[in-house]
Amino acid sequence: MSGFTETPKHVAIIMDGNGRWAERRGRPRIFGHVRGCARVRDIIREADRQGVKALTLYAFSSENWGRPSVEVSVLMRLLYKWLIRERREMMDKSIRLRAIGAVDRLPESVRKMLTESIGMSKDNTGLQLTLAVSYSGRDELTQVAQRLARRVAAGELAADDIGEHHFAEELSTAPVGDPDLLIRTSGEQRISNFLLWQMAYTELYFTDTMWPDFKPSDLRMAIDSFTRRQRRFGLTARQAEEARV
Ligand code: IPE
Ligand code: IPE
Ligand code: MG
Repeated sequence: MSGFTETPKHVAIIMDGNGRWAERRGRPRIFGHVRGCARVRDIIREADRQGVKALTLYAFSSENWGRPSVEVSVLMRLLYKWLIRERREMMDKSIRLRAIGAVDRLPESVRKMLTESIGMSKDNTGLQLTLAVSYSGRDELTQVAQRLARRVAAGELAADDIGEHHFAEELSTAPVGDPDLLIRTSGEQRISNFLLWQMAYTELYFTDTMWPDFKPSDLRMAIDSFTRRQRRFGLTARQAEEARV
């Protein structure tokens, strides 16, 4: 018996630091995005190899729309190309793709490609890959509140009966649940409006490595750190240990 935790089933990553990676090399920020985008495939493969069941990648936040329009267009174009490039791998490896966030804000071509890839992979039973695009945790919670309020107004649900499970069921991440481990690259130690509700008990892992430098071995190190932690969920260390056996 040990207090150690197993491989995380659900890993979420804030892929940060592309811009600074490029600027440090005297290159434009978009060069960092190109390199960062090229990293994604290896990390998905490694997550799969490590036995991770669900991987959620923060690719673009609602707030990122406020960046210079050239940068936003490059990011959209990279997403579009990435979707085309990864189709084959997704089908070969039985990866199921989902998207969370305000996808209706994406350019038509990107949205179409995303919808197609999601549809194409819907029966895949391997790694559950979720892309957070145009995502905001607060926006997601606001929408859940709106949907529940509508149900109350329609007389389907009593306000006093609203419980945590109603939120959990209405969240866009309902099919994959809460992340066990969150990784953020680039040295920033914040959540930046990512999965706010879902991360109540997520283990956090911050690394100074910039996303374009984040290698499969770095993912293994993060997973390794996770497996050496004891998740207590508010209980005592002893109780947590006993709950595992
Ligand atoms: C992450 O890298 C990619 C996106 C947010 C789309 P950044 O572009 O935020 O890079 P830094 O943080 O400015 O270095
Ligand atoms: C968070 O990174 C969003 C993504 C990585 C997609 P940001 O670079 O946008 O976050 P802040 O602005 O540093 O908090
Ligand atoms: Mg950043």
